[in-house]
Amino acid sequence: MKPIGESPAEQFVRSVTTALATIRLYDANHPQVLNLCQQALDQIRQQFTDTNEVTLKIINDRLVFQDVRLTENLSVERLIRAMHAHDLSFIRLDKTICIEDLLQMTTRLSRHSHKMAPQPSSAKDKIVYGNVAIYSPAQATASTGSSDFNDVANENLDKFMDIYSNIGHGNKIHTTGLREIVSEFIAVFHDQKDVMLALAPIRSMDEYLYTHSTNICLLNLAQAKLLGITGPLLNDIGIAAMLHDAGKMFIPADILNKQGKLDDREWELMRSHPRLGAQYLLGCPGIPRLAVVTAYEHHIGYDGTGYPTSFRQLNPCSYMTSISDIYDALRTRRAYKEPLSFDQIHAIMSGSAGKSLHPHLTHSFLTALGQLEQ
Ligand SMILES: [Fe+2]
Ligand SMILES: [Fe+2]
Repeated sequence: MKPIGESPAEQFVRSVTTALATIRLYDANHPQVLNLCQQALDQIRQQFTDTNEVTLKIINDRLVFQDVRLTENLSVERLIRAMHAHDLSFIRLDKTICIEDLLQMTTRLSRHSHKMAPQPSSAKDKIVYGNVAIYSPAQATASTGSSDFNDVANENLDKFMDIYSNIGHGNKIHTTGLREIVSEFIAVFHDQKDVMLALAPIRSMDEYLYTHSTNICLLNLAQAKLLGITGPLLNDIGIAAMLHDAGKMFIPADILNKQGKLDDREWELMRSHPRLGAQYLLGCPGIPRLAVVTAYEHHIGYDGTGYPTSFRQLNPCSYMTSISDIYDALRTRRAYKEPLSFDQIHAIMSGSAGKSLHPHLTHSFLTALGQLEQ
């Protein structure tokens, strides 16, 4: 999904980082890697109209292409992290760059914490990797420090992005990858005395659908842990959360990304995503039945409002997912709205408890969040 208004340089970064994610998930010989590198090559070649070389550099933790700071998004952040992991502060690309050079670059960058020695420029180098004092060594050390929650989240997002892209292309999801992701998130909770503390770094970035699914997974796992749920059910709840919006992959991107109000036809399409997601997941072997039910029910209110129409009691995982969904929507900064404060969120969600949201689950969620807030 390509966000509206992305510059060719940002598209280039997106192609490169998606190639990195694909290499990490499969290997450098995967056909998709070649496609993505070819795409990246086409995008970067547009930049050589009046120059023989272009430079991507990190200045104060921001990615700068030539002299233009790129908009922060998941791809840009991912490239910064990959460059930090290799102690690089700039990458210079020559006009004569070819597909093999880009393949080599993405393969090298895809290796975790494998240092690439900065190399001196020479006439034959079509890509120069360098490190100049644009940021302090302390910053570099901090960003490449030991594996923490954000590292886990980033690596899982890479994997998840790849898994989710299968949905849009009509392919079946491989549950093994998803189970690994959820297990890693559950492991994060194991290390936390207070399960809600694990949510502190939950992310809000532009690539909303990917990030949102990961956030909902963490929020659902936190709710499930508060209820004392463990074992296979906890895994299934995590998987259901990751896939709750799978149906959105069947909704046109211009509707998903529209910043103004949706018209009637667009809104009707948007409202079909629970049904489309459930239908799709039903056809994927190995997907827990809970994920199918949650995809279908997560926009149905506790009081039966919402969509699609339903007259029966919902699965508790659907109630949890609605709570996580509303909370994530309210606390996330979008192009058209600022995030709300905890007090504002508390007021809105308390007002919906017993109406569109499950009363007990909402109160226990808000109480735990309130303690975290203090
Ligand atoms: Fe949804
Ligand atoms: Fe959602």
